[in-house]
Amino acid sequence: MQVAIDGPASAGKSTVAKIIAKKLSFVYIDTGAMYRACTVIARNHKLDYGDEENILKAIDKDGIELKSENGEQKVYSAGEDISLEIRTPEISANVSQVSALPKVREKMTSLQRQMAGKTNVIMDGRDIGTTVLPDADVKIFLVASARSRAERRLLDLKQRGIKSDQTVDQIEADIAARDYKDSHRKVSPLKKAVDATEVDTTEMSIDQVVDCILEKIQEKQKKF
Ligand code: DC
Repeated sequence: MQVAIDGPASAGKSTVAKIIAKKLSFVYIDTGAMYRACTVIARNHKLDYGDEENILKAIDKDGIELKSENGEQKVYSAGEDISLEIRTPEISANVSQVSALPKVREKMTSLQRQMAGKTNVIMDGRDIGTTVLPDADVKIFLVASARSRAERRLLDLKQRGIKSDQTVDQIEADIAARDYKDSHRKVSPLKKAVDATEVDTTEMSIDQVVDCILEKIQEKQKKF
């Protein structure tokens, strides 16, 4: 069983995907974390965020690994735990540029398909239902207003202990800018797959979103 959850930044994808993965014992893959890791690698190698060839070489050299430790997803590169670093405002501000590089996308897509393999998987991102797993059994497209997404992002940064001087207005502006870039890039832009179910989470609690997606998964499981 493959479950694809796509949608714009901070729509709640990873929060609900993690809960569902735990409930159903599915493997959870956070593809945004992988593009963020590519951006950290580019920064560590002091590369221009548009320097596709050298970023690719640096990714090959350092590698990206997702590990589950005590139920938490951790991101490693070059032997270092970069799980907190990938969430900093600097990386958030530059990840759209790195993730728009076609060869970086090609590499990540192939890695993501390999990771999904034949296991039960729930994967979140921007292009999972359209490109990475086009035959996914359940496809969800999560949306929410930019304001509520900014409020959630601010709370998330606080809960992770990441210091940020940004106000909710600044975060909302950053989110809107990232949405625009993610939806307008040439390769695999953020887009609802034709066969995906759209769920607007603005007025929904986490539990309500989880239940809604679980229902879709259970409907499919009955048909298996
Ligand atoms: O989900 P996130 O905010 O952590 O994702 C970070 C960035 O990575 C996002 O701005 C767009 C990019 N991304 C992508 O292009 N394709 C994916 N499947 C996942 C994320």
